[in-house]
Amino acid sequence: MPENQNLAIVAEDLVKIYPGRARKPAVRALDGLSFTVPAGRVFGLLGPNGAGKSTTTKILTTLSKPTSGAARVSGHDVLRAPDAVRAAIGYVSQGSSTDPVLTATENLEIAGRLRGIGSGDARRRAARLLDDFGLAEASRRPVSTFSGGMRRRLDVAAALVHRPRVLFLDEPTTGLDPEARAAMWSEIRRLSGEEALTVVLTTHYMEEADRLADELLLVNGGRAVVQGTPEALKEALHGDSIRVSLVEPDPAAVRAAVARVAGLRDVVVEASGTDGVLAARTDDASGAVGAVIAALDAAGIRYGQVAASHPTLDDVYLHFVGHTFGDPSTSSGAGGGATAGDADTITTGAAA
Ligand SMILES: Nc1ncnc2c1ncn2[C@@H]1O[C@H](COP(=O)(O)OP(=O)(O)O)[C@@H](O)[C@H]1O
Ligand SMILES: [Mg+2]
Repeated sequence: MPENQNLAIVAEDLVKIYPGRARKPAVRALDGLSFTVPAGRVFGLLGPNGAGKSTTTKILTTLSKPTSGAARVSGHDVLRAPDAVRAAIGYVSQGSSTDPVLTATENLEIAGRLRGIGSGDARRRAARLLDDFGLAEASRRPVSTFSGGMRRRLDVAAALVHRPRVLFLDEPTTGLDPEARAAMWSEIRRLSGEEALTVVLTTHYMEEADRLADELLLVNGGRAVVQGTPEALKEALHGDSIRVSLVEPDPAAVRAAVARVAGLRDVVVEASGTDGVLAARTDDASGAVGAVIAALDAAGIRYGQVAASHPTLDDVYLHFVGHTFGDPSTSSGAGGGATAGDADTITTGAAA
């Protein structure tokens, strides 16, 4: 495996098979996933529910073993040196990890003692972290009185008591309201900037990945789809994206109707329930939008909103995977926090 000071993580050909039991078949959650994470940045692991994000995080944090493959975190092999990995990382799981009955201060002091920090140090570190995370005033309140956003910030603070080099955040803003989500985003930015921490963040929110990640890995079906900066991934698509929302669509009829529109590529038509979407890419949005509308009108196809835009991460995903990010048929995994098949939530993220 390559030794590189500037890589916080090297994952090589990770496979994870959860054995089947009773009538449940085995699940190949990771199917040969390889990627590297540069040190000192915010790295986003973006993919729909069930893509394998939590499984990847659990392997990198030594909570789960890969069926095959290897990984190094902060220079340590997750299988051969799990204790060294654990000392170097902080981990915030999808659920909350703090004790609701205890105060914020007590939670952080206990987290420090569990990490082997002496009581005086743990007290000072707790006070400092509560200050950094805007929780100083609430420090003596039981955590059960905290808002979701405050509790999540405390989770992150607790993962930092021992000054880790790499911080893993699994869906840190799922379930938070837009304001709390924005607060968490600026917290994560600050950590990566001021503390030179490597942050590995999983998310199924396109907007979150776009805003926060210096570098991004799109995952789907336990495999890496594409990696790069959000800007580079979007720029690589060049041209414009067109989206037409469809009313009670017959996908085959829609495809036939736009088949002869010149200059369209990556045409995808999806239907779920009574709604649908036509997505396509073009080098000439102004001409193509008119032609698409004319073709839909001529075929008697009902549609709603028509939008043309520069490529988004949704388009990047569509381009590489062949269906929209929120496609219910591929996002129904059990792992995530969002409602399976809730395509709107998945694609619009915090703006919802
Ligand atoms: N403990 C487990 N046992 C069996 N299957 C699991 C387990 N954990 C996750 N899976 C399955 O593995 C796949 C990936 O899950 P997960 O890593 O949680 O994805 P994500 O975090 O991207 O939503 C899903 O199909 C999920 O249902
Ligand atoms: Mg998950």
